[in-house]
Amino acid sequence: MFNKANLSNTANAANQDQLVWKMLFDRQTALLHRRAVPAFSQGLARLGLRREAIPDIGQLSATVREHTGWQLAPVGRPFEPAAFFELLAERKFPIVTRIRPMHRFDFSPEPDLFHDLFGHVPMLLDEGLADFLHALALAYRAQPANSPAREQLWALYFFTAEFGLVQHEGQPRLYGAGLLSSAGEIHHCVNEYTPRPAFDLATVLHTPVTGTRYQNQYFMLPAWEQLTDCVEELAGMLAVVRA
Ligand SMILES: [Fe+2]
Repeated sequence: MFNKANLSNTANAANQDQLVWKMLFDRQTALLHRRAVPAFSQGLARLGLRREAIPDIGQLSATVREHTGWQLAPVGRPFEPAAFFELLAERKFPIVTRIRPMHRFDFSPEPDLFHDLFGHVPMLLDEGLADFLHALALAYRAQPANSPAREQLWALYFFTAEFGLVQHEGQPRLYGAGLLSSAGEIHHCVNEYTPRPAFDLATVLHTPVTGTRYQNQYFMLPAWEQLTDCVEELAGMLAVVRA
């Protein structure tokens, strides 16, 4: 039955979502100027992401597929690691379809549409990161459920695709989605007192993933190519872990 009040509430909620997107987009693009890895701004431009409107996930998926063969899979809520990596192994990236409400503008306790679309999708157009994620997911799937190796691979994902930094022309640049999509995390990360040790695969694999609001440290790749190189190194290490 037609209900004018419900229709009005739905329209208000949709307008609110668009406003949250626009405000987050403006804040993050300003903050990320000369702080994000160049692949991020190139990805934003190729995808045609803009402040004026929340993009259509299907159209974005088609663009990403043209570039790196990945697709976007709309989901209602974030996945647990096993289901998450199962999707990544098929070169599909889950996108939470809800954006945070205005009262959680500054901090979303779990990934939302802004984190996934703005933080992850531009980087999926980078072949190095796209192939790294696929290799990581295949490695995860090959390990026994609840094994220490799976926890280590989750840590590797966490400290790269979510909270990774890379040296670019002598400067730290952000490429992890948890950084790219969060003003608070960026400020915490670039703070002179926050440790940013050089990326070392063995160290990262054995660094526990914590549920704290901000990370205690951020690992910095000396060069972007090291992400690709560490896949081979990883294969050797996993053989040791499994033995
Ligand atoms: Fe994420």
